Amino acid sequence: MATPVSIEVWNPNGKYRVISTKPMPGTRWIRLLTDQDCRVEICTQKKTILSVEDILSLIGDKCDGVIGQLTEDWGEVLFSALSRAGGKAFSNMAVGYNNVDVNAATKYGVAVGNTPGVLTETTAELAASLSLAAARRIVEADEFMRAGLYDGWLPHLFVGNLLKGQTVGVIGAGRIGSAYARMMVEGFKMNLIYYDLYQATRLEKFVTAYGEFLKSNGEQPVTWKRASSMQEVLREADVISLHPILDKTTYHLINKDSLAIMKKEAILVNCSRGPVIDEVALVEHLKENPMFRVGLDVFEDEPYMKPGLADMKNAVVVPHIASASKWTREGMATLAALNVLGKIKGYPVWSNPNQVEQFLNENSPPPAASPSIVNAKALGLTASKL
Ligand SMILES: NC(=O)c1ccc[n+]([C@@H]2O[C@H](COP(=O)([O-])OP(=O)(O)OC[C@H]3O[C@@H](n4cnc5c(N)ncnc54)[C@H](O)[C@@H]3O)[C@@H](O)[C@H]2O)c1
Repeated sequence: MATPVSIEVWNPNGKYRVISTKPMPGTRWIRLLTDQDCRVEICTQKKTILSVEDILSLIGDKCDGVIGQLTEDWGEVLFSALSRAGGKAFSNMAVGYNNVDVNAATKYGVAVGNTPGVLTETTAELAASLSLAAARRIVEADEFMRAGLYDGWLPHLFVGNLLKGQTVGVIGAGRIGSAYARMMVEGFKMNLIYYDLYQATRLEKFVTAYGEFLKSNGEQPVTWKRASSMQEVLREADVISLHPILDKTTYHLINKDSLAIMKKEAILVNCSRGPVIDEVALVEHLKENPMFRVGLDVFEDEPYMKPGLADMKNAVVVPHIASASKWTREGMATLAALNVLGKIKGYPVWSNPNQVEQFLNENSPPPAASPSIVNAKALGLTASKL
């Protein structure tokens, strides 16, 4: 028997019942739904990760759509329950959707939405922050100050790595990886090496143009290289940031063997998904290589860290906050709500999920479309002509 869960209700007489499994930032997303005849029910249960049983209880007998979170297991059980309750729409409040069995959703005719285009810069900025924090040992130094250990300037105190002129390596140069690469190249004049299954043409053009600009200013130009293997990036880069999707090709991409070929003083940053790194192997590597440093936003068994990681001075760890800027989180909530609303209303799917600015403009009504439905093709949904 599923346990009852506490909810907050908006527009109780709305025709369509839409559930959000968590309170989400901002209120625009609620207004957009209630203005279109939706009754919005927000789960206010004081429990960070809802179980499948909790969500079944929320769905109940009649539910038109659900906005869910990346911590939830959206598979056969939930999609069949949603379909039985008359629901045809689900959206993750996230760009990644490795927690969703898209095939199961498609089988039950449920559209699966995600929220690309609004997290890119915010997530890349956290990856850049972690790169700097690790390079300049900011967390260690902060702890040292607060512990009252500072008794005067010393030549050896918290010596870290200079980024200028070094090489930044990006694995997965998609939206976020490319934005991060640009920040590190432009901000710190680092050279770029990247590995992706596809060529990042726009990124290459940017680095070329920036290199020419620096040269014309009498400065050392920056360079780029597309590596033919991930190993090439690991061997050559001084700072490596991971930005691929999580699937079976990227699970434990960073393991004992790949760590072994990295430079002893390299910096590794992960703002993608925890299981991209074999965290047990990483802890061992951190123990054996004190000058190797990591910045981690995500963990293999969230919310837990593998034993020993929390004790490592050469690790900076933050609790999965890469997309946590106000603008981004409110935008994610808006896009997720509009994905669900669009499917309920029978709207077409937006033709370019990377260009979603029109949905985020608070001063005008959003287009009558679902911003991003990942199984649109499989469901035969029409693309918007707007
Ligand atoms: N930590 C966070 O809060 C947070 C926030 C946003 C996104 N993310 C994660 O970041 C991921 C990337 O987001 P995005 O918007 O840049 O996605 P994207 O699809 O634009 O980019 C992913 C890139 O990874 C590449 N890729 C796939 N398999 C690969 C492999 N085996 N080796 C190398 N590259 C490979 C793809 O070709 C693509 O270019 C998301 O899937 C999500 O899991 C995390």
